[in-house]
Amino acid sequence: MRTERLSTSPASIARAASILRAGGLVAFPTETVYGIGARADDSQAARKIFAAKGRPTGNPLIVHGADLDLVKSFVEVWPDAAQRLAAAYWPGPLTLILARRPDRIADEVAAGGPTVALRVPAHPVARALLEAAAVPIAAPSANRSSEISPTTADHVWKALAGRIDAVIDGGPCTWGIESTIVDVTGTPAILLRHGAVPAHEIAALVPLEIRSEQVLASAARAPAPGLHARHYAPRARVFLVEPQAVRATVEAVSVSGQRVGTLEHGAGPSVGLYAERLPSEPTAYAADLYAALHRLEDAGCEILIIAHVPEGGAWDAVRDRLRRASAGLPENP
Ligand code: TXA
Ligand code: MG
Repeated sequence: MRTERLSTSPASIARAASILRAGGLVAFPTETVYGIGARADDSQAARKIFAAKGRPTGNPLIVHGADLDLVKSFVEVWPDAAQRLAAAYWPGPLTLILARRPDRIADEVAAGGPTVALRVPAHPVARALLEAAAVPIAAPSANRSSEISPTTADHVWKALAGRIDAVIDGGPCTWGIESTIVDVTGTPAILLRHGAVPAHEIAALVPLEIRSEQVLASAARAPAPGLHARHYAPRARVFLVEPQAVRATVEAVSVSGQRVGTLEHGAGPSVGLYAERLPSEPTAYAADLYAALHRLEDAGCEILIIAHVPEGGAWDAVRDRLRRASAGLPENP
């Protein structure tokens, strides 16, 4: 299939919306990462997403809607916790798990389950597209399954050209890391994935249990099935080391003749030819993390040595992504 590259002009948005309405696949920017959209009320359209990503059909998709009233029509019940969190964070980078209305959301989207993940994104291009499409739009991150998420249209192109109908180029994403996922089907609410909204902010609004660690530990019983083991991962083998150990690790590994890249943060001299250095403030670090990993991958790095980041607050989403990128590999290269 030939993939169209679209701008954000009104004519392009109208074109993208008509592709979606007809059951096609369109990648579009959100404030977190780019998503691949397809109708969530059409089984055949939803199945195309799994095929394009190479995603296991047991891993459900997030459904996006233009506004709160529309999104409420996709669920059976709208609990108090959903109301409180939606009022605080929608439109924005928060995903809520709720009881699915099967007449509105296809089984494939929910992997056959009784719940659905919902989000009202804040990105103006995403909002314009969702408004024009006027149907529920399922949109997982626009990468091949388990690879690095895309934060630019070029990242999407690299992974999915020829597999989707169109991509809208809306420039780089602002958050650069996925939405926070909270299950509000029961009390307490359960945080399933750390993301752009820090856990402590959510815990200030509703009783909250954090289960994202457990998900990583027991892949088989993962309540958010996409959250297991190796994920968000570059093709290179990733090793996390203490910041002060980066240089010695690179020197030790370089002996093997493999191309080694590094990812560090804060000020300081970098090691080697393939070195990325991100800000030491967590939100700014997150905004460029995936882009830095894409650059190191594009440079052909076979091994990445990444400096550990601090724990707590806005760092948790970053730590989570780094651990998943290195999951399943030995502790040392
Ligand atoms: O920021 C984001 O959330 C981006 C943008 C495009 O909106 N989307 C995104 O989608 O990250 P994806 O498919 O890459 O990740 C969705 C995660 C998966 O881990 C999936 O298992 C989980 O959400 N999920 C989806 N539906 C679920 C459900 N009903 N119950 C539990 N987890 C669910
Ligand atoms: Mg993803």
